[in-house]
Amino acid sequence: MLIHYQNLFHAIAVAVFAMGMAMPAAQAAEQRGKPLQPAQINAKWKQECSSCHIAYAPGLLPAESWRKVMGGLDNHFGTDASLATEESTEITRFLVSNASNRWSTSTAPLRITEGAWFKREHSGRETPPAVWKNPLVKSPSNCQACHTRAEFGDFSESNIKVPE
Ligand code: HEC
Ligand code: HEC
Repeated sequence: MLIHYQNLFHAIAVAVFAMGMAMPAAQAAEQRGKPLQPAQINAKWKQECSSCHIAYAPGLLPAESWRKVMGGLDNHFGTDASLATEESTEITRFLVSNASNRWSTSTAPLRITEGAWFKREHSGRETPPAVWKNPLVKSPSNCQACHTRAEFGDFSESNIKVPE
């Protein structure tokens, strides 16, 4: 009888472990259809995070990346973008709850442009090396140079126009 219970526990443990392994894939699949920016956006985020660059859509980074970005605003890519605690907390909550692992499941880069998916998407025929040297592009972080609706979190193929 004891043996049987042990077998049962073992079976349950294996099943739970297998479910744990399957979850990330299931979550990634679920994320795929999700928009990069929710219909209801946070006003403080839009205001505070779009003064130096576009407000990058929350779905462009995983939650852990947003926590890191928001935790280091006093030294934000060479600038000081600090906020009052209350605003920072509200913006972090918005970013984290709309974050996405669809692009990168195992790493939490500080930059969107450091993600493996970003490099993959931007190394094709449409974006040859010379494009990145075009003064109209300046930096890969300058999404809206090519994605005409980037500020709305829309990166669809139909709204891409790479400057000549
Ligand atoms: C004072 C100016 C300033 C403000 C305000 C600011 N940023 Fe930035 N941010 C920068 C600079 C400069 C860079 C680096 C851009 C580059 O390398 O071309 C950057 C880059 C980023 C990147 C990385 C982009 C990439 O290359 O993938 C993220 C993510 C980001 N900012 C998020 C935020 C968020 C979230 C906020 C609001 C809380 C914010 N920023 C507010 C100046 C600012
Ligand atoms: C120099 C122009 C250029 C810049 C700058 C640029 N992109 Fe792109 N991006 C493209 C092109 C072209 C494609 C389509 C690649 C393909 O399909 O081969 C693309 C594809 C994408 C895709 C996939 C779209 C889809 O539906 O498959 C995403 C998401 C994306 N870019 C996000 C960004 C973000 C975020 C930034 C800024 C941090 C950025 N891009 C900067 C040109 C650019």
